Amino acid sequence: MVRLKGAVVAITGASSGIGEATAMRFARRGSRLALGARRLDRLNAIAQRCRELGAPDVSTRRLDVARPADARAFVAAAIRDHERLDVLVNNAGLGWMGRFHEMPEDKTEELVATNLAGVIATTQAALPPMLERRRGVIINVASVLGFRAGPYSAVYSATKHAVVGLSHALRGELSGTGVKVCVVYPSSTRTEFFEHAEAPIGPVYSAEWVARLIVRTARFPRRDAIVIPYRFVHLTEPIFGGLVDHVLGELRRLGYPRLSGSGLPPRRP
Ligand SMILES: NC(=O)c1ccc[n+]([C@@H]2O[C@H](COP(=O)([O-])OP(=O)(O)OC[C@H]3O[C@@H](n4cnc5c(N)ncnc54)[C@H](OP(=O)(O)O)[C@@H]3O)[C@@H](O)[C@H]2O)c1
Repeated sequence: MVRLKGAVVAITGASSGIGEATAMRFARRGSRLALGARRLDRLNAIAQRCRELGAPDVSTRRLDVARPADARAFVAAAIRDHERLDVLVNNAGLGWMGRFHEMPEDKTEELVATNLAGVIATTQAALPPMLERRRGVIINVASVLGFRAGPYSAVYSATKHAVVGLSHALRGELSGTGVKVCVVYPSSTRTEFFEHAEAPIGPVYSAEWVARLIVRTARFPRRDAIVIPYRFVHLTEPIFGGLVDHVLGELRRLGYPRLSGSGLPPRRP
């Protein structure tokens, strides 16, 4: 069990949604926080609320995880400001939904740089000091789309599958070192995320609910933290996966007629 009171916790993407709720929840536990995101004004307001909730010290830093130098500097600043790093929550991320072949190139690059390369850069920066202390927890916020890919979210699903693969490989690589790597798989969660994606299919959770799962995972670092109904989907995936691909595709096309057809202009006779 990891003691969270006084633990130094760095959270990427803490300016809204799951990251914001996670910061608040660690604050209630008396953790010391390093918060990063691009919107520094929002981050500073959240930092103040975290102090009021009980976080003994909170630092903020403008962070674009898509820039590896930025990501490394965020981790270095967290360690400089708080003397060590106990928990890293790689939460920053964004989605895009639509036909794969219509996805703009710059969006593809942004998703890969933020959702995957960002996780790689912060984790590579955090590992040497954690390994030296022989302790630390890295929590990667993936998605249920990290094991059950979503039609019309191909690149997003690919980045989250990659995060899961990275995390599991690293967990094995680090076994016996005292450093744990965990994956949290939120399903649809009420946040600003859906300002950039179509409405979710299935139950919708609150950001606070996911934050509770993340904080529990930091206390009891398990390999995979999956919400119950999706744990079942995860188990049945090898048997029913092909069928689910079709069902989800149909549900999307029914809900969003603009996704029907190929999106290509009709062929000339
Ligand atoms: N909401 C869902 O249904 C859902 C489901 C499964 C997984 N997730 C995952 O949960 C995580 C959090 O998403 P959310 O739902 O809380 O969405 P959100 O409210 O849009 O929050 C995303 C956070 O990531 C930050 N961010 C985005 N790009 C960034 C960048 N380049 N550098 C640094 N920070 C960046 C944003 O801050 P700035 O804009 O200020 O930089 C914001 O704080 C994401 O990894 C997402 O993939 C969400």
